[in-house]
Amino acid sequence: MKPTRRDLKFKLDPNRICDWHRQGPQVTHFFNAMSIFFPVGERFFIHSVRHYRDRIRDPELQQAITAFIGQEAMHGREHEDYNALMAQAGLPIAPMERRVAALLEWGKRKLPAITQLSATIALEHFTAIMADRVLRKDGTIDSRDPQMRLLWRWHALEETEHKGVAYDVFRSVRDPSLKSYLTRTSGLVIASIIFLGFLHAYQRELVRADGRIGRLQGMDRYLRFLFGKGGFVRDLVGPWLDYFRPGFHPWDHDNHDFLLEIDALAAQAQGAQLAAA
Ligand SMILES: [Fe+2]
Ligand SMILES: [Fe+2]
Repeated sequence: MKPTRRDLKFKLDPNRICDWHRQGPQVTHFFNAMSIFFPVGERFFIHSVRHYRDRIRDPELQQAITAFIGQEAMHGREHEDYNALMAQAGLPIAPMERRVAALLEWGKRKLPAITQLSATIALEHFTAIMADRVLRKDGTIDSRDPQMRLLWRWHALEETEHKGVAYDVFRSVRDPSLKSYLTRTSGLVIASIIFLGFLHAYQRELVRADGRIGRLQGMDRYLRFLFGKGGFVRDLVGPWLDYFRPGFHPWDHDNHDFLLEIDALAAQAQGAQLAAA
């Protein structure tokens, strides 16, 4: 799988930023909370992969790393614009971003490079299984703003395209052994606890700061969306556990068929960009 960097811009509707998901503001702020992590998180991913770059001899993997860095940089840029719209709407985005950045800066300073890479491949796994859910069930991003749907779908497609890259870097610098298995899997456990803890806290914080709905209003729909039959979280449990299989590789779960739509989606995004210009 050869990832490609695509310089796409999305023009999100500022008036809808707190209520774009058809399942209501609780679900909207679930994805809004996720967006807060991307710019700083993706810079951390880039940093941890770059550290090992000069040890990679395979020219194809080198090319894939270049595309991975390019894609993550574009995602970061678009989610920065997304987050700026939330800030404009009065949400306390800057301090929320600063807290994630402080944690990741601490990680960069204090953790061994291999632990940082293990956190990256764990979070890339998390992102890849969420991306698969977005692509498989279009209702995941059931948006009143068509540009919002396009943005999440583009991100999901590119996360799918590059899901093996950081993992292949890890495999290139660590031979299979019990130690490398434990480095990899403990990374997923720890990264998941931290990520889900933050995500939950941030979703609550955004709902509170939004103030237009009661803290528990729409909670039944939100919980159904996450934990109901065929819910978002329930769908992720199986693929999340696959990571613990010795010899696991992200492409064991072959969903490359989705990538057939990427050119059409890019053309659609560029068309909307031109129309808006
Ligand atoms: Fe990304
Ligand atoms: Fe990624």
